[in-house]
Amino acid sequence: MPATVIVGLQWGDEGKGKTTDFLAEQTALVVRYQGGDNAGHTLMLGDEVFKLHLVPSGILYPHIVPVIGPGVVVNPQTLIEELDRLAARGIDISRLRASFAAHVILPYHRALDVAREHRLGGAKVGTTGRGIGPAYEDRAARSGLRLEDLLDEAAMRSKLERVLPEKNAVLAALGAEVRFEVDPLVEQALAWGRRLAPHLIDVTWLVQDALRRGDHVLLEGAQGTLLDLDHGSYPFVTSSSPVAGGACTGGGIGPRQVDEVFGVMKAYATRVGSGPFPTELLDGVGEGIAERGHEVGTTTGRPRRVGFFDAVSTRYAVAVNSVSSIMLNKLDILSGVDPIRLCVAYEIDGKRVEAWPSSAKLLERATPVYEDFPGWEEPIHAVRALSDLPDAARRYVTALEETAGAPIVLVSVGPERTQTIERAWRPMRHRVVAGP
Ligand code: GDP
Ligand code: IMO
Ligand code: MG
Repeated sequence: MPATVIVGLQWGDEGKGKTTDFLAEQTALVVRYQGGDNAGHTLMLGDEVFKLHLVPSGILYPHIVPVIGPGVVVNPQTLIEELDRLAARGIDISRLRASFAAHVILPYHRALDVAREHRLGGAKVGTTGRGIGPAYEDRAARSGLRLEDLLDEAAMRSKLERVLPEKNAVLAALGAEVRFEVDPLVEQALAWGRRLAPHLIDVTWLVQDALRRGDHVLLEGAQGTLLDLDHGSYPFVTSSSPVAGGACTGGGIGPRQVDEVFGVMKAYATRVGSGPFPTELLDGVGEGIAERGHEVGTTTGRPRRVGFFDAVSTRYAVAVNSVSSIMLNKLDILSGVDPIRLCVAYEIDGKRVEAWPSSAKLLERATPVYEDFPGWEEPIHAVRALSDLPDAARRYVTALEETAGAPIVLVSVGPERTQTIERAWRPMRHRVVAGP
């Protein structure tokens, strides 16, 4: 049962795009299972940089079918723009498939997201403003539109006639100026439907048939474990389930069909948006890491908050996802940081705590207990074997591995696909899918 889940172990932006692209070579399908265009996944191939928001990170390989699963919320406008940008760069986008069941982000979802955040003021979540929360709310309320509805004018019109009065009333209550009408939205949605029709399919059977044939399927998570709606630091989370379990509901597979859970983490931590971040650095060390690591949001351009690696939250993430192996990214960014501090426990209300409390209230009061590691000076971008790393870097990797409790099988030392150290590595089966 060759399905592998790729999941972020921190607050997102761990380098899942690079990891997915690296592993995708040996797979037939890459399936996004949750989130929407709040995600920003960066791939680098030679000098070329690709920033993906909705399109799965397998798109650069001609043999892969990139799939948007039923658990994703899709803004058709941004999807079409992303496809156009890729096509303009010579990438074949015809293979992309998106689930009939994926929910649609409509302009009123974005307006509600922005209006709510504005109303929350200092208590805001710091969302990406992409309408993610409001779209998932409608899905749960059974009042959302699915991609299949873009092909059915009557269904779309009757759903919009039902929901728009409520949306406009809420927008008014939130003090927003904007209002939405049925006709222009129907027209817009029909145009999206015409454009996306060749890509829409029943994804569950596409994935199940591939698995039945023995093709390898990669499920690409967005965001990260600590942003998970159930398992993150609520309410400073996203509205979907980035954890590995989310790959089952959002990708249309069962738990027994997953044979590997690949955790992705970077050698330090970042967070975008509000919420507790015990190891956050507000000094020159943090600024240096942010600058060298280009820690600026791919989707919103906001600066990412930066901190030292947090072993407490990582142990939790490894447990919650049942991680079987790990890719450690951005080790190169720590060249020149000395000492490198590793948070091994928290102190909360005078007590040492080693189990991550997902309660934001407790986390706000957590101060990190650090173990210090000597740093190294030299750049390591060109290293391709663990044994060629500086001793101090190797010791740090070993410490991260011990603390995580799962093997680090890949170490990334630069953004480019080949800037990767392969360690003990169990190759996946390489099969080419017969076509969607
Ligand atoms: P994602 O959302 O998890 O896919 O991560 P992002 O793409 O938002 O952010 C990761 C950033 O780090 C991107 O700009 C990547 O190109 C870059 N990156 C990934 N791995 C490495 C690495 O090992 N070293 C360096 N220097 N950059 C990396
Ligand atoms: P990738 O896939 C980092 C954060 C937002 C905010 C919270 C809720 O690139 O790792 P939302 O718009 O989802 O309702 O915002 O989640 N967030 C991310 N942070 N990387 C992401 O995606 C994120 N997607 C959402 O900053 O704190
Ligand atoms: Mg990102």
